[in-house]
Amino acid sequence: MIQAAIMHGVSHQPTLWRLVLSQPRAFAGATAWSVTNTFFDFLPEVMVGLAVDSAVQGQKSLLGSMGIVDPWHQILLITAAAFLAWGVESWSQYRYMIAWRSLAQNLQHQLRQRLARHVLGMRMDVFERRSTADLTTVMNDDVNQIERFISDGIHSILSLIVGFCLVFAFFATMSPVAAMLAVLPAPLVVIISRLYRRRIDSRFLSLRRYSGAISDAISNGLRGFMTIRAFGQADWEVERISRQSATYRQAAIAAARLSAGYVPVLRMAIVFGFAGVLLYGGHLAVSGEIAVAAYGTLVFLTQRLLWPMASMALLVEGYQKMQASLVRIGELLALDIHCPISKMPDRNHEGGPVLIIDDLTFGYEKSNPLWTLNLNVSAGERVAVVGRSGSGKSTLLKIILGFYEPTVGQVIVSHHGKPAAGASGISYVGQHPYMFSGSIADNLRYGNLTATDEELVAVCKALGLHDFISALPDGYRSALGEDGCLLSGGQRQRLAIGRALLRQSSVLLMDEPTSALDRDSAQRVFEALRRHCQDRAVIVVTHRADEHCEFDRVVDVSA
Ligand SMILES: Nc1ncnc2c1ncn2[C@@H]1O[C@H](COP(=O)(O)OP(=O)(O)OP(=O)(O)O)[C@@H](O)[C@H]1O
Ligand SMILES: [Mg+2]
Repeated sequence: MIQAAIMHGVSHQPTLWRLVLSQPRAFAGATAWSVTNTFFDFLPEVMVGLAVDSAVQGQKSLLGSMGIVDPWHQILLITAAAFLAWGVESWSQYRYMIAWRSLAQNLQHQLRQRLARHVLGMRMDVFERRSTADLTTVMNDDVNQIERFISDGIHSILSLIVGFCLVFAFFATMSPVAAMLAVLPAPLVVIISRLYRRRIDSRFLSLRRYSGAISDAISNGLRGFMTIRAFGQADWEVERISRQSATYRQAAIAAARLSAGYVPVLRMAIVFGFAGVLLYGGHLAVSGEIAVAAYGTLVFLTQRLLWPMASMALLVEGYQKMQASLVRIGELLALDIHCPISKMPDRNHEGGPVLIIDDLTFGYEKSNPLWTLNLNVSAGERVAVVGRSGSGKSTLLKIILGFYEPTVGQVIVSHHGKPAAGASGISYVGQHPYMFSGSIADNLRYGNLTATDEELVAVCKALGLHDFISALPDGYRSALGEDGCLLSGGQRQRLAIGRALLRQSSVLLMDEPTSALDRDSAQRVFEALRRHCQDRAVIVVTHRADEHCEFDRVVDVSA
């Protein structure tokens, strides 16, 4: 079910219920182990009561009245029962911990998958307006927060509820008045918790947001390392990070102040119940209405009933943090994703142009179009796109890739004679090509995951890269560093071209692919294009007039 939700991006707002119920069997199993554990966790107090009862009352004890006459036999039976209870408690603890943690890990994994699919499918303009560091915080920290709550929090809540019911039932059979006294603080606890929740709610959400802002400031500081050092602005960057950090600190301290006050206030509420049972139970025991052992058990159990309520503070805090994370995840999932609509061509493609640009108009602001274009490109044709800086050449390539919706008109790409949706059927060399951390071979194979070593070598030889790569100690397995920082500008550009050439596509788009190359290297690239692109439509954005002779046509978008 959740898999289907992941695939279709439905039910944007995940809730705790929706999440855990997506794995009903695992959830039911974990719940059953938690309930069993809580039940057996309460038995020792009852056994202490029974043991005291047997020691004090002898044959007239509860067990005595049940037919076990010898007090020593009674004690032996209680001891054996204690062994059993402890055994079941330990086993069920082992099982519930595994069950909740596995469920939490599975849900965390699914949520990460769903978010990764969603973010990588986001509309380009929506993605461009989000900071990547903030997105990372949501996809990592917020998801972890949910995992943490499911791992430990749900068991604690269940244990609180089940424990409360068990003790209340026991009290009710012993003395209904004592039961009322013991639960006296419960409404107060609920009221205090609700007041607290309302106030802390927004503080935790702000904290999560500030945390995203800090990640953003840190990641800016790291990604801009060279620029920062070159401009001697390290102090200014540190100042920027510390400003964000100070805002976070202030908000975190305010939240801590609020949460720190919660436990003492709750404790004072709880003491009413404890004192009530102590007084009233004492009165019953003194007047002989209940046995001493029953009084002892009542007092012990009051502790067991009331103190977990104090731990509600932590639970509520964990719940609120998880809720804040769910809100942020929901906000992200509610952002528009791009659904490329495959447009059927209104003409037969077999043998026709592989790229049709039909009355295409686009502007980032609809009222301000960059250009209007009509262009048909057949397989084997090479077209240069020229124009002044900022005239919309890179934008044209992004529209062909399906990154933005045209304001008017349409783009049709055909791959193997069939219309291709979005970027399928297209190879692309961006103006600032990105290199993934990994080896040279990994980056080349990004174009074609099944390319053989021989194919990699052939492409690199054609682009004049092979000698340089072979001279490296690890050859094609050499690491590139983050975003290819160990490569020269020209090497990086040619690797990006190699990656695009390896992809089986009918259209090749290149954005200033030779801007970092000397004339000879650029010539080699064009030779490689001639050899590898006889059956592809090639569109190249270029500023170099001396390259125009390499093309069948030159289209000026600023004309
Ligand atoms: N994501 C974007 N959102 C809004 N405006 C943008 C975006 N990308 C580019 N622009 C604007 O659109 C115009 C065209 O940009 P584009 O990158 O297509 O130009 P270009 O012709 O490739 O320029 P250059 O030759 O300098 O690379 C520019 O004015 C630019 O500021
Ligand atoms: Mg450009």
